[in-house]
Amino acid sequence: MASEESVTIEARLSDRDYLRPIPAFIGQANVTDHRVYDRFDDFPEGFTEYAELLDWEDHWDEVFDGSDPPFFKWFVGGQLNASVNCIDRHLDDRQNQTALLWEGEDGDQRNITYGDLHREVNEMASLLRSIGIEEDDIVTIHLPMVPALPITMLACARIGAPHSVVFAGFSASAVADRMRDADSELLVTIDGYYRRGEFLDHLAKTNAAVDEVEHDPDVLVWSRHDEPATSLRREYTHVQTKLADHRRDRVEPVMRDAEDPLFLMYTSGTTGKPKGCQHRTGGYLAYAAGTSKYVLDIKPGDTYWCAADIGWITGHSYIVYGPLALGTTSVMREGSPDHPHQGIVWEVAERHAVDIFHTSPTAIRMFMKWGEEHLESYEFDFRHLTTVGEPIQPEAWNWYYEHIGHGTAVIVDTWWQTETGGHLITNLPALWDMKPGSAGLPCPGIEPAIVDDAGQSIEGDEAGNLVITRPWPGMLQTVYGDDERFIETYWARFSDIDSDDWQDWTYVSGDGAIKEPDGYYRILGRLDDVMNVAGHRIGTMELESAVVEVPEVAEAAVTARVHEEKGQVPDVYASLRDGIEPDDGIKADIIAAIEAEIGAFARPSRVILVDDLPKTRSGKIMRRLLEDISNDRDLGDTTTLRDPAVPEQIRRQVQGA
Ligand code: WTA
Repeated sequence: MASEESVTIEARLSDRDYLRPIPAFIGQANVTDHRVYDRFDDFPEGFTEYAELLDWEDHWDEVFDGSDPPFFKWFVGGQLNASVNCIDRHLDDRQNQTALLWEGEDGDQRNITYGDLHREVNEMASLLRSIGIEEDDIVTIHLPMVPALPITMLACARIGAPHSVVFAGFSASAVADRMRDADSELLVTIDGYYRRGEFLDHLAKTNAAVDEVEHDPDVLVWSRHDEPATSLRREYTHVQTKLADHRRDRVEPVMRDAEDPLFLMYTSGTTGKPKGCQHRTGGYLAYAAGTSKYVLDIKPGDTYWCAADIGWITGHSYIVYGPLALGTTSVMREGSPDHPHQGIVWEVAERHAVDIFHTSPTAIRMFMKWGEEHLESYEFDFRHLTTVGEPIQPEAWNWYYEHIGHGTAVIVDTWWQTETGGHLITNLPALWDMKPGSAGLPCPGIEPAIVDDAGQSIEGDEAGNLVITRPWPGMLQTVYGDDERFIETYWARFSDIDSDDWQDWTYVSGDGAIKEPDGYYRILGRLDDVMNVAGHRIGTMELESAVVEVPEVAEAAVTARVHEEKGQVPDVYASLRDGIEPDDGIKADIIAAIEAEIGAFARPSRVILVDDLPKTRSGKIMRRLLEDISNDRDLGDTTTLRDPAVPEQIRRQVQGA
C-alpha cells in the first residue's frame, strides 16, 4: 500500500465540510430523483436507461452476456452507428445549432453547426472510402485540437473503421509503435498547429513516424490553413485538396453491431509498451451519453466546454461522443491556456456564455498560481464544473468553487480511467452534497469495493485497492490483440480466473482509495508503476526503457516526485557504464531520448547520474527508496540491501548534506 501517500493526502485535508448544491441548480437538473440508483441496481436491465438515449437501427436481444468472463457483451444483437447518433439524428431539430465551437490559438474561430458537421463528416468519410478504407480497418489519427480531429473520428465511425487517436504531443516513435501494434495502414495528420504563439511543425513527426514503421502506410495530411504545406512528401495526400472531389458526397452509415469496436485508445501500464484499450460501439456510446447527461448535466441547449485534449480519453467521451450524442454545443480550443494571455480561458467562457466547464486539478492549481486578477475582467457564469484526472486537494477545490464557480456552481469530482470509458465514481450533482477532496459516491449501477492485498474486503475507512465487482457497459472489451494481457492486467489479481461465473471476476483499477464512513470514496492515486504527470498517464517502465536507449547508460530507475502544480513529475536515476564519467551531455541525451520515445510532455524534472542504484541482494532495484529520496523523506530500513551505503550516498547527492 502507498502508506506514505495516504498520510500526505490526509494531512492536506483540512476542510471536511459538505456543500449543498443551490436550489436553482437542483430545480433544473437532469436527475433529481434518488430512485435512479435503485433502477440501475436492477442489474443488468438498469443500464438500458443509458442505451435508450441512443437511436438503434436494431434493438438489442439481450442486455448483457456474461457467459465468457471477462469478455462481457452488452446490448447483444443491437445495431447502431455512432456518427448517426452524434449527428444525423439531430438534424431535424437542430441543423443550425452549433455542434462544435472551435477557437484557434491565433484567434481563428469556427462555429460548426450540426448541418455543417453532417456535410463535413460525410465528405471525409467519402474520401476515406475512396482511398480504400473499409469497415474494421484501424485508422491512426495524430491530430491536435482542430476541427479536423473530431471530423476525422466521426468519419471513421460512419464507415465502421475504428480510430486510434494518438495525442498530438506524442513523438514519432510513439505513433509508430501504436500503428505497428494495431496493424494500422492509414495515418491522418496535419502540417502544424499553434501552441504558445508558435506554429509547431507536426509534419516532421509524421515523416519520422512513417520512416519508422515497416509497412508503407497511407498518409492523409490536413493543413491548418487550407493551403497545403510546400514540404509534403509526394506520396502523401493533402486532405483539403482531395476533399474538393467529394463535395456534397453522402455516405450511407455502416451499421455496427453493438459489440463492434468503435476505437482504440492506447494507455500506459506497468509493463512493456502501451496497451490498446478497445472500446465497443454500443455500450461505450450509451455509457458516455448517459454519464454526460446524468453527471455533467448536459442539455441540448447548453454550451459546454471541456478543456481537455481529444487525444486522451476525457476528450473522446466528454468533448466528442457524450456531448454530441446529446445534441449540445461542445467547445474546443487549440493551444495553451496562457496564450495569448493568462485570462484567455475566461475570455472564451465569456465570449460563448459557457454554461458547463470541465478541467483538471493541474489546470486549477495553475489558474490559482496565476492569480485572481486574470479572472476579474471577464463575466462568466457557470452552472456546473467538473474536475477529472487526479486527486484534487481541498484547497484547489475551494478555489475552483469560489473563484470559478462564484459559490453557486455545483462541482463534480469524477473518477474514472481510459479503460472504464466513462465516470465510475462521482456524485450525481443535484442529489448529494459536495465534499472537497472526495470523488463521492459510485455512479448508478457501479459497484466498487476496497480490498486489501489478499483481496479481502476492507471494512472501515482504511486505504486499500479500489476494485469494481460488477461489469458496466462502458468498460473496455480487451487489450487490442492481446486477450491474455487483458486478463493479466485487469482481472487476474483478485478474480477466480477459472470460473465462468461473471460474479467471480473483479476489475482491478490500479488505484488506492478509502471508503469514508459516509460512503464517499476518496481516491489516493496509483498504486502501480504508473505516474500521473499533469493529468497525463505515463508508465515508469516506458520512461526507463527510453533512458536505457542512451548508450552510456547502464541502468535506470524512474520515480515520481510530488509536485505542487503538476501533481507528480518524473525523476530519472541512471547509472553509467564502466569507465564513463557523468556529464551534462549525457543528461541532455537522456532527456532527448524521452522526448523521442514518448514526447516532450513526459520530460523528466531531474536527471540524477549515480554510481550505483540501490538494489536488494537478489539484484532488484529498490525504487521505493529512490522515491523517498526524491520526495525528501527519511530513508527507511536499508540493511537488507546489497550495498546499504548506496541510498545514503544518493540522498546526499540529491538532497545535499
Ligand atoms: C487518476 C483519465 C483522483 C487515477 C479519466 C486513474 C483520478 C487515472 C481522478 C486514469 C479523480 C482520474 N481523482 N484520481 N477524479 N480521475 N484519476 O486513464 O489514478 O488518463 O487511475 O483517465 O487518473 O487516467 P486516464
